[in-house]
Amino acid sequence: MPVEKQIQISPADGKLGVLLVGLGAVSTTFIAGVEAIKKGFAQPIGSLTQMSTIRLGKRTDNRVPLIKDFVPLAQLKDLVFGAWDIFPDSAYDAALNAGVLEKELLAQLKEPLRKIKPMKAVFDQTYVKRLSGTNVKTGKTKFDLAQQLIDEINDWKKKNKCARMVMIWAASTEIFLKTHAVHKTLESFEKAMRENHKAIAPSMIYAYAALKCGVPFANGAPNLTVDIPALMTLADKNKLAICGKDFKTGQTLMKTIIAPGLKSRMLGLHGWYSTNILGNRDGEVLDDPDSFKTKEESKLSVLEYILQPEVYPTLYKDFSHVVRINYYPPRGDNKEGWDNIDIFGWLGYPMQIKIDFLCRDSILAAPIVLDLALFLDLAQRCGMKGVQEWLSFYFKSPQTAPGLYPEHDIFIQLMKLKNTLRHLRGEDLITHLGLEYYD
Ligand SMILES: NC(=O)c1ccc[n+]([C@@H]2O[C@H](COP(=O)([O-])OP(=O)(O)OC[C@H]3O[C@@H](n4cnc5c(N)ncnc54)[C@H](O)[C@@H]3O)[C@@H](O)[C@H]2O)c1
Repeated sequence: MPVEKQIQISPADGKLGVLLVGLGAVSTTFIAGVEAIKKGFAQPIGSLTQMSTIRLGKRTDNRVPLIKDFVPLAQLKDLVFGAWDIFPDSAYDAALNAGVLEKELLAQLKEPLRKIKPMKAVFDQTYVKRLSGTNVKTGKTKFDLAQQLIDEINDWKKKNKCARMVMIWAASTEIFLKTHAVHKTLESFEKAMRENHKAIAPSMIYAYAALKCGVPFANGAPNLTVDIPALMTLADKNKLAICGKDFKTGQTLMKTIIAPGLKSRMLGLHGWYSTNILGNRDGEVLDDPDSFKTKEESKLSVLEYILQPEVYPTLYKDFSHVVRINYYPPRGDNKEGWDNIDIFGWLGYPMQIKIDFLCRDSILAAPIVLDLALFLDLAQRCGMKGVQEWLSFYFKSPQTAPGLYPEHDIFIQLMKLKNTLRHLRGEDLITHLGLEYYD
């Protein structure tokens, strides 16, 4: 399919500031990983921006560059990290505390990691019940807190001599909130911030501040955050890229790999039972039913959208889908996820699939943070504003334009991502039709 002429992309000159809300397991594993890769200690496994290729033209053309050579991305050496957290620990201490990476590796990265000290957080325990910390901003209203963040972001950019910035929410999952009337317009949102309305969660205050400062925003947790009309309008108005929600790692990653396969072969599903044991701080926060509810909503929607029971009632009507997360401290970040999948085939004969995924949550999440930072920055330099649906690939609960259902099938998501890159460079989109080889 031919595409219009190449889109103008500004070069990735200068430093890119990566502002992380939350300096916990995911953020420190990401930062330490980038530092280790820069020093040549390790490879960026799991990152499309660093390792994946993209096929261009016909299969016989033999044009398969690396994505990072095909589109102009910021280089790892140009990344500068900043963060907020309710605990004052440096990235080094926070990484030791998270216990994801080995002490020996962290010791070699001590110097850059120690320099990253979190700024005081905008935090309210109403929204994350299981946490309390001291490194927290005070302000009369939520609007005051947003102003403090805006000043801080602008100062940080100057101090760190950054040409551009992106912000990623990698902080704890907040309690479940539904869209409220005050989220409707920018005016009602700002008024609600001034009145300390409880429908305004801290994550929304960060997103608002980012968008006011001209910084694109990605949401790695399932909180509503930037997925409300007021902030989508602000992103549009300020021509900024946004995306979310909830990094797709672990069990949901597996679900969106396997479910499309079952559906492609027209195999039916009676039920899918998923349970996890997890012992990190994220697990502790999710032990609170209100935070878990936010996560559960995000995890449950995936199968419904992929399997389309309304289109295939014989195969998928009324399947049972249960998701559990159990906080079990001895396991730390090394989550274990079990899936029992009851499927049926020819003439309705039942079969079972069992998965036991001994995964490492933050090891799967870190490359997602890197790719999102680089792709969001690319989107911004291409003049792409608003919801970046092509980045659905990275999320459990992809943000879409209002009224559009999300695409969860990981293979469709990958094709969408790569076709977007081809589109940006004026290359033919790949349809996999392939009839031309047989003419
Ligand atoms: N690791 C994964 O595979 C994965 C996948 C999907 C989503 N997530 C989400 O990513 C987030 C981070 O996960 P993690 O494992 O790093 O958790 P973590 O508990 O190790 O880190 C979160 C950090 O956020 C801080 N925090 C909480 N509220 C804050 C606020 N308002 N401002 C600033 N800091 C705040 C906490 O103090 C903590 O240090 C969680 O919401 C988690 O659900 C993680």
